[in-house]
Parts: sequence; structure tokens; C-alpha cells
Amino acid sequence: MKANIVLIGFMGVGKGRTARLLAEKTGMFSVDCDDLIESFSNQKVKKIFSEFGEPHFRKLEKKVAVWLEKRVRNTIVSSGGGFFNVPNIRKIGKVVYLHSDFNQLLEAIYAHPNVKKKIKKRPLLSDLTKARELHETRLPLYRDIADIEIQVAGRTIEDITDEIIKKAGLKK
Ligand code: S3P
Repeated sequence: MKANIVLIGFMGVGKGRTARLLAEKTGMFSVDCDDLIESFSNQKVKKIFSEFGEPHFRKLEKKVAVWLEKRVRNTIVSSGGGFFNVPNIRKIGKVVYLHSDFNQLLEAIYAHPNVKKKIKKRPLLSDLTKARELHETRLPLYRDIADIEIQVAGRTIEDITDEIIKKAGLKK
């Protein structure tokens, strides 16, 4: 059985849509860690943060990570921006970091037709000063844990997915 591909990177970088297009191009399945958390806890991510706090959300991420490592193969895993911190991340699959600098990321988020929903869904984006700091703090950590780094700013998703397929040795 082939290993999974785990997409990591900051909020809004496009991990979900990249995973879905990769799945379409390769015939692999894709799963989203936040969706898995929402389905097994029967709560929205936003609600988990507001009612139970971030530490509880991080526990749920760890639980998902254990399940992925044990049960999931040959799948594109799209993760939340903080998922890279789970202790077994590299055992889940090949780790691909999608990189954009913070300003370009914000531009892309604000250019989105549904910008309000995008921000509302992500509690850690509500304070932009803190989000910028978080991006800065996480950057070396993402880079440290990743097997492959892909630049996403200013590129099409077609181009990004083709580069991942090539660098990760996936078959179209
Ligand atoms: C988070 C990113 C979110 C979600 C949660 C926490 C983070 O996912 O998991 O709000 O810590 O960066 P996206 O990266 O898909 O927005």
C-alpha cells in the first residue's frame, strides 16, 4: 500500500482545494482533518474553539492523526494550519508544505468572494496582528517538518498540483 501525502501550511493557503484537485488528477482519495474532527465530535471547528478552547481542539487533532496513521493509506490528507504539531505527522505520510508569505496570503483571502465566511470559520484569523505573528513563528517549524516545499503565491492550482505530483512521485 502506498503512503499518504499530507498537505500542511498556514490558513488560507489552499490546502483543501489543492488536495481535491490532486485527488482528481491522481485517482487517490482526499480527506480533510478539520472535516474529520467535525464529523467525529459532531461540532463545528469554530464552536469547538469557542466552547471548549484551543487545547481541546489540539487534542482532537492528535486523535485524528493517530487514526490516519493506523487506518488511512494512499490518500491525500489536507490538514488544518496547526496540524503539523501532532507528534506522528511524519508517520502519516510524505509531508508537503504549501508556502505563501503572509501579505500575499491575506490578498488571496480578501480577493475571495466569500471572505467573511472564510474568516468567520477560522478563529485564529480574527486578529490579523496575532495571525501575522503566528505565521512568522510557524514558518521555520513548517519548513523543518516538511519533505517538500511548494511556493503557492501567484500560481495557478493546476501548476501547484502538477509540481506536487512530480516532486512527490505521484502518478497521474
Ligand atoms: C488552524 C487552522 C484551521 C483550523 C483551526 C486552527 C490553525 O484550518 O484547523 O481553525 O491553527 O492554523 P485551515 O488551515 O484549513 O484554515
